[in-house]
Amino acid sequence: MIPQDTIDRIREGVDIAQVISAYLKVKKRGRNFEALCPFHTEKTPSFKINVDRQIYHCFGCGKGGNVFTFLMEHERMSFVEAVKHLAPRANVVIREEKSDYRREELDRLSYAHELAVEYFQAQLFEPRYRVVLEDYLRDKRSISDESIEHFKLGLAGKSWDGFIKHATRKGLKEPDLVKAGLAVHNEIKGSYFDRFRERLMIPIFNLSQKPIGFGGRTLKKGEPAKYVNSPETPLYHKSNVLYALNLSRDAIRSEGKVIVVEGYFDVISLWQAGVHNVVASSGTAFTDQQARLLARFATDAFLFFDADSAGQQAALRSVDALYDAGLEVKVMIPPEGEDPDSIAREHGLEKIESLQQEALDYIPFRVRGVDLEGAGIIEREKLIKEMAALGHKIGDPTRRALFLQEAADALRVDRSLLTGISTGSSSDGTVGPTRSRHKKAEVQFLSLLLAAPGTIDRVFETISSDDFDSRQLARLYSAIATQYEMEGLISAEKLVEHLQDEESISLLTELASLDWPRESINHEMAERTGDFLKRKQKRIRSRLKADLDKAEAAGDETKAAEILEEMKQHGLI
Ligand code: UTP
Ligand code: MN
Repeated sequence: MIPQDTIDRIREGVDIAQVISAYLKVKKRGRNFEALCPFHTEKTPSFKINVDRQIYHCFGCGKGGNVFTFLMEHERMSFVEAVKHLAPRANVVIREEKSDYRREELDRLSYAHELAVEYFQAQLFEPRYRVVLEDYLRDKRSISDESIEHFKLGLAGKSWDGFIKHATRKGLKEPDLVKAGLAVHNEIKGSYFDRFRERLMIPIFNLSQKPIGFGGRTLKKGEPAKYVNSPETPLYHKSNVLYALNLSRDAIRSEGKVIVVEGYFDVISLWQAGVHNVVASSGTAFTDQQARLLARFATDAFLFFDADSAGQQAALRSVDALYDAGLEVKVMIPPEGEDPDSIAREHGLEKIESLQQEALDYIPFRVRGVDLEGAGIIEREKLIKEMAALGHKIGDPTRRALFLQEAADALRVDRSLLTGISTGSSSDGTVGPTRSRHKKAEVQFLSLLLAAPGTIDRVFETISSDDFDSRQLARLYSAIATQYEMEGLISAEKLVEHLQDEESISLLTELASLDWPRESINHEMAERTGDFLKRKQKRIRSRLKADLDKAEAAGDETKAAEILEEMKQHGLI
């Protein structure tokens, strides 16, 4: 077990370009370097090393990371091996904690989480936070007391160090709480404070029912990070965990089916409606470990994501891993403008069951909305390659043959076309290069943020993660905002270790690799921030307008008056 600050000193003490150049032939390009990518076959270099950010990213296959992940991927080192390997170069001596000490440490981190669950639960019922319980949870989100208990929901109050005080009184030390991801050490001030403040706390449990991490949802409007999540800790390995699997395992096993949603609240609302075989992916694409975990309990996975394009894209991104793990994948399509949470609350069990009955197999889902006659060669070629790649992942030969036949039929091509394709690199997979999947304005904004020098508090005051169309970018924005709030800086290099899932890392390193001329950053940033605000206004207006129409149609004058008042507040009338 290597202490975090040692890891930080080593990462900061080496130069990524120097390290990588021991393994690859790198060429200097301005301040930066490029090379032929070692992770896929190519003839022109798309592997870029960014010296300022201390990261690498391949624009061909999407692999990216920091100096540690490079050694892990390229040299097949473990994280600890990579850290040790670089220590001498950084002139850092590692003082390792003894292994029996590590066992004790895990116990302490586990104890810290148990205390935290209890502490947050108690806060939720404190009289001074009654609005959260009554107005937010019960009224606004229709969450029952039974659900609050079942999911052990809690509240992090306003205090800066309430939990630290509570836990230290119980014998834990601040560094343990930092390691547990429950507290943060501010190096500038030299003090410790609670990671979670003024947030609804959703505890995450492992399969042994032990709490190992938290998602914290903001209770304030306009907060930059909608969620602050626990970081990776010795206890919490995000890529191995699925939210609520501890609660739904038995139901999944007995039905052989699992419904996969994106958000914590989707799980809670579905559970409340009587659907118990449900887990959340927490807004990331499935990792292989997560998919294999599900495959232990289920044969069929029903993806039930938001109706918006972000939700549907998320469905596509999860398919690969699920197929790989041998699961049958089906997609439930919510009515326009709705998400599993709202469907469960407003239409209940029956609607969910009927959506499940009507769920599409993956192939029809994928080609849905594609006009095959009208589609150009490139679009068709992309689909054919994608289906071939997916088909080849299916281990069972009969199933594979059936899949390929079905795909060929759906695409109206000869089957030999799909079976004949060699499917080498994973970059032929479900979706194209990262950037093309997201709104350009959002991509550029985040990229600017990663490049921005100096203070950018104003940005975080005006834009919240909910303003993004892309869920993935929203998550990334939350992580950046949280890092900035906690550490007072933005470092892509460090975030790599915080994010963990390969897809988010690839997105991060890609965005951090884009170059912005220094003199235009401030100007561009102001422009993008302005765009976001305009879009936000437009959204608020159309939402309120729709609500108003509804209220008027229903003859609900009080409601209508309320909405008009809100419109006034937003300066819309
Ligand atoms: P959503 O934005 O759909 O959130 O992200 P939600 O949980 O449904 O919340 P409501 O209903 O809008 O209040 C889906 C999931 O993605 C992760 C969370 O796990 C969330 O439940 N997420 C989202 C983050 O980790 N960070 C973010 O900033 C946003
Ligand atoms: Mn949601």
